[in-house]
Amino acid sequence: MSILPFDDRDGTIWMNGQLKSWRDCKTHVLTHGLHYGSSVFEGERSYGGKVFKLEEHTQRLFDSAKLMDMKIPFSQQEINEACYRVLEANNIVDGYLRPVAWRGSEMMAVSAQNTKIHVAIAAWSWPAYFKNEAISLGWAKYRRPSAESAPVHAKAAGLYMICTLSKHECETQGFDDALMLDYRGQVAEATGANVFFVKGGELHTPIADCFLNGITRRTVIDLAKGLGIKVNERVIMPDELSDMQECFLVGTAVEVKPVARIGDNHFQVGDISNKLMEAYGALVRS
Ligand SMILES: Cc1ncc(COP(=O)(O)O)c(C=O)c1O
Repeated sequence: MSILPFDDRDGTIWMNGQLKSWRDCKTHVLTHGLHYGSSVFEGERSYGGKVFKLEEHTQRLFDSAKLMDMKIPFSQQEINEACYRVLEANNIVDGYLRPVAWRGSEMMAVSAQNTKIHVAIAAWSWPAYFKNEAISLGWAKYRRPSAESAPVHAKAAGLYMICTLSKHECETQGFDDALMLDYRGQVAEATGANVFFVKGGELHTPIADCFLNGITRRTVIDLAKGLGIKVNERVIMPDELSDMQECFLVGTAVEVKPVARIGDNHFQVGDISNKLMEAYGALVRS
């Protein structure tokens, strides 16, 4: 990835209803979102100038905001149009979009009902999340919390704190990413992507009851069903991984990415992973 800092680039960002110069899109240090994690965001990709599943992403941004007790002061249609305005303003055809909404500076304590809700959308070119053909995962230090402990279905900034810490630790150990268990000790997901396994010609993936039911996850399940591959959404315990033949991550950023290793468990990049990678690649550009 580029070492150009994200706050010091040429380009245009949509912020609170207006296209502004990239470097002018600043927020104050006394911003509620910065101190208390009151922020929600999306990650989207455009392929050939078209944002894949834009409506679903915008819907999730609004759902996440609602779960965080925030009301986005724009319509979903305005956000969708703004995404395309940002792509056009930056001449991006194949790229990544980052809509974000956060609480402003009007209150600086836990309560924040009267803060302004700010919204920005940035976009940049971002070819591949991982460079290797197949990646390796270590076991995450932290577990995904239960739905009683956090708004687990929101794509909320605060939920990424344990992802960053887990990923840092695994990267230090030489892995590409971390696989997280949930609060029950069941396999959950990676730090920014959902996980699938292949065993006996069928797909197995954890039930998304305490983590994001990703848009790519749902897309891949539909693609698999269309290809006649049985999908088992079920509880997966870590000791089952030694019996799995293939593994891959799915997400907007990672797309469909084969996993060669999780801890001491090794997987092949097999037929089913390849088929779904191909089918997903074709769908996003269709
Ligand atoms: C923690 C986490 N899980 C799963 C996903 C996959 O979601 P999607 O396929 O909607 O990008 C993401 C990416 O947004 C994520 O950050």
